[in-house]
Amino acid sequence: MALHLTYCRKCGRRFPEFTQIIQQLRAKHPNDLEIVELPCMAACTDSPAVILDYDYIPHILPSNLEKQIEDRLARPFKEVTLKL
Ligand code: FES
Repeated sequence: MALHLTYCRKCGRRFPEFTQIIQQLRAKHPNDLEIVELPCMAACTDSPAVILDYDYIPHILPSNLEKQIEDRLARPFKEVTLKL
């Protein structure tokens, strides 16, 4: 199961180091990282911001983004079973 990264393309252009880290991570994890680029993710005052799976992370530094993604990809996948 891939990790989902959502970010704003427009804000990404304002923070080239941020976009560079995303491109490096995309190349490093082509099958494990699904990246969604939005024209705006309504986080303009929090940029750069990302959503990793269901977690919103505002004002993220490139080094922290890389660590967050590498840590999440290193975690074992947990399958959730719903009991009805
Ligand atoms: S323009 Fe980037 S979040 Fe709105």
